[in-house]
Amino acid sequence: MVLNMDSSRTRITKAVIPAAGLGTRFLPATKATPKEMLPVVDKPAIQYVVEEAVSAGLTDVLMITGRNKRPLEDHFDRNHELEEALRKKGDEARLAKVAESNDLANIHYVRQGDPRGLGHAVLCAAEHVGDQPFAVLLGDDLIDPRDPLLARMVRAQADHGGSVIALMEVDPEQIHLYGCAAVETTADSDVVRVTNLVEKPATADAPSNYAVIGRYVLDPAVFDVLRTTEPGRGNEIQLTDALQRLATDEALDSPVYGVVFKGRRYDTGDRGDYLRAIVRLACEREDLGADMRAWLRKYVAEEMAD
Ligand code: UTP
Repeated sequence: MVLNMDSSRTRITKAVIPAAGLGTRFLPATKATPKEMLPVVDKPAIQYVVEEAVSAGLTDVLMITGRNKRPLEDHFDRNHELEEALRKKGDEARLAKVAESNDLANIHYVRQGDPRGLGHAVLCAAEHVGDQPFAVLLGDDLIDPRDPLLARMVRAQADHGGSVIALMEVDPEQIHLYGCAAVETTADSDVVRVTNLVEKPATADAPSNYAVIGRYVLDPAVFDVLRTTEPGRGNEIQLTDALQRLATDEALDSPVYGVVFKGRRYDTGDRGDYLRAIVRLACEREDLGADMRAWLRKYVAEEMAD
């Protein structure tokens, strides 16, 4: 284990949440609403993500927003009118739900202007982040709070230095949907050294079945690399391309590690997976689960009878 004394002394406090994408896969829902505001059961996806950052000890959150940032800002701010109406009705339970996102974290916003890709969105955080390691969380991946991934990644970054990405083993047939990492083992059983990254490879060309998922703890060295990263796939500045350079160019002296996650992750970036995530989470909820499971059983039985 390489102990990086500088980073172990630096407590990571800043989280960056890119939310400026066009969300084209969810049109028309995302015509006037950021994808991150779509509800997962009864809470917008972005609130789960902010709660995850806070529970990993990251209380300074920077959201990278785009043309329709208003709903995001409003969601994390007080709504006096609504609170007053609920108070008058004596509806304490709903009042608590409305208020729970008000003071979760210190939330800051920066506009991306043109959505020129995830790498460009991360680069918009450079001034706010400064020269400390920081986390990036994507709203497309929901990580079950019972399986804390980000806190493990923060510890791995303190132990190993450099940047840490989240990896998950997927069916080789699915790897073309993800960034894919070539890896070497380290002394930590759940941490690997990333030796190369390939964006969305065909199964036959994939160096492994380790898929990159939407959590990162990044060395600020990534900003200089992003500044000189040319647009890649989809003519967008790709974060994966910058991480690939960090992983493969030893002269940059900023290695990339991966934490292998085996916990529960819900993909909400794709319509089918989004719907499945909602059904799964609703089935697990104390207030909704029993009804939902009974209805599902009946529905499936009827479908099978047809
Ligand atoms: P996606 O690749 O999922 O893009 O971005 P998207 O635009 O949100 O969705 P689709 O593919 O058109 O449906 C991954 C994350 O990066 C953010 C998105 O908001 C999402 O959280 N992002 C992407 C930006 O903040 N800026 C960009 O220029 C691109």
